[in-house]
Amino acid sequence: MRILFLGDIVGRPGRKLVLERAPELRRELSLDLILANAENASAGLGLSARNAAELLEAVDLLTTGNHVWKYKDLVPVLQSEPRLIRPLNFPEAPGRGLAVLRPPNLPPVAVLDLQGRVFMDPIDCPFRAAEAALAGLPRDVMVRIVDFHAEASSEKIGLGLFLDGKVSAVIGTHTHVQTNDAAILPGGSAFLTDAGMCGPFPSCLGMQPEPVLRRLMTGLPARFEVAETPAELRGALLEIDPDTGRALSIKAWRG
Ligand SMILES: [Fe+2]
Ligand SMILES: [Fe+2]
Repeated sequence: MRILFLGDIVGRPGRKLVLERAPELRRELSLDLILANAENASAGLGLSARNAAELLEAVDLLTTGNHVWKYKDLVPVLQSEPRLIRPLNFPEAPGRGLAVLRPPNLPPVAVLDLQGRVFMDPIDCPFRAAEAALAGLPRDVMVRIVDFHAEASSEKIGLGLFLDGKVSAVIGTHTHVQTNDAAILPGGSAFLTDAGMCGPFPSCLGMQPEPVLRRLMTGLPARFEVAETPAELRGALLEIDPDTGRALSIKAWRG
């Protein structure tokens, strides 16, 4: 089973390129599924209901992250759309953090969205949340993909090792910078600290550099705008044994 997981889609440039390229990528890479993190898809911060609907035409499931609550019109979509999830470990939040896709002619695929706690806002423990969610999965769901939306590489690698052998892959998102550490862990789970972003390059994590630099150098607030440079795609390309759920290969992918 071949799955492409796309890192944080940033703004219109990221959205446009994902919509444009998804159909050909399915053919070229013989993909069974495309998953994508869309927490920055609308103007670089958050996801609107309209943009969620657009992206769900092109990809099979959207994960999100800390910016998921930015657009109020997304809340009813989170409650009604089974292919849109938010970090599971938000306490008492609307929507779901776990989805089980049952694509035709393919084994079921669980996707779990979790958010980190190191250098981020306080939230329930992602390790315990993952453990509880996996314990509740139906027995036939062997393919399990985790989006760990987190800042610290230590926490991300920690969760990878914690879930090794219990899931097919742990893919990091949130930093927008693709890491070069794709690996199959000893227990058979694929791991990548961060998938990177689908957005404009060069830029400062998808934003125009000038206001970011001004804020960094002066400490004064500045309004960030999505950069207008050409977009590129970043993600993780996974191959998974559908019978056992073990990862066969993982690659930090760019397109
Ligand atoms: Fe984030
Ligand atoms: Fe992000």
